[in-house]
Amino acid sequence: MKIIKTKLELSNYLNTFRELGLTIGFVPTMGALHQGHLSLLQQCKLKCNVSVVSIFVNPTQFNHPNDLLGYPKPIEQDIELLTQLGCDVLFLPEVAEMYPNDEQWEYHVGDLDYLLEGEFRPGHYRGVTQIVYKLFNLVEPDFAFFGQKDYQQFLVIKKLIADFDLKINLVACAIIREKNGLAMSSRNVRLNAQEKEKAQLIYQSLLFVKENYAHYEIDELLDKAKQFYLNDADIKLEYFSICDQETLEPITAKNISKGIALVACFVGETRLIDNMMLD
Ligand code: PAF
Repeated sequence: MKIIKTKLELSNYLNTFRELGLTIGFVPTMGALHQGHLSLLQQCKLKCNVSVVSIFVNPTQFNHPNDLLGYPKPIEQDIELLTQLGCDVLFLPEVAEMYPNDEQWEYHVGDLDYLLEGEFRPGHYRGVTQIVYKLFNLVEPDFAFFGQKDYQQFLVIKKLIADFDLKINLVACAIIREKNGLAMSSRNVRLNAQEKEKAQLIYQSLLFVKENYAHYEIDELLDKAKQFYLNDADIKLEYFSICDQETLEPITAKNISKGIALVACFVGETRLIDNMMLD
């Protein structure tokens, strides 16, 4: 695996593949890789000739300095995992390489910037789109792979690609779960054994909603889903919503659109998100 730290070297290196007519697949990450990331890389390798993974903990998408400081950075382990899986290129820039100037520009995400995650993490998607746009510009991938776990992020990136008319095929990859149903996330390493056990209620509540979707009205379903989160002082629910899969606007009746249930909660000090399609 070739490890590259500068934009110039990355462009030059990837150009050699492009000139040979090879397809480039891209998996942007913030590191602390887990099985979910690795499944993105596996799909990337199946679809594309050259696989590029980036690891960059993007400061502009964090709302709380402590969240940024505490973000896990097991870089040696990440390199080992990527090498084992046969990743071709790892892009590993420093902050100054990606943000050499005090940049003032931002992409206006629209309604998705205010709903759900946007409400609880103001400005988060402005930071995400800033770095993803820069990375897309640099890597110029034929395919880009994102996990369905960050479903709202996936929709935001879809809109970014459409708005800028980027020639990138966006691929959504299924959520990978631990045995107890907990969605794989880099943040899971912050959970102690007891919290990990408690966190399975997220999957259980989503499954409850999916299995009972036909049986209750939306309001009733939401009430019942939220009850999963009431009995433990370590669990703090931020939102549990049933939304339209395309717009993420809350839906009030099941027959008007395809639904998705989305949830964000704290388990102890760790914020987790998850979702499940309801069709
Ligand atoms: O999903 C993530 O890990 C990040 O938001 C991304 C897309 C790598 C941008 O920093």
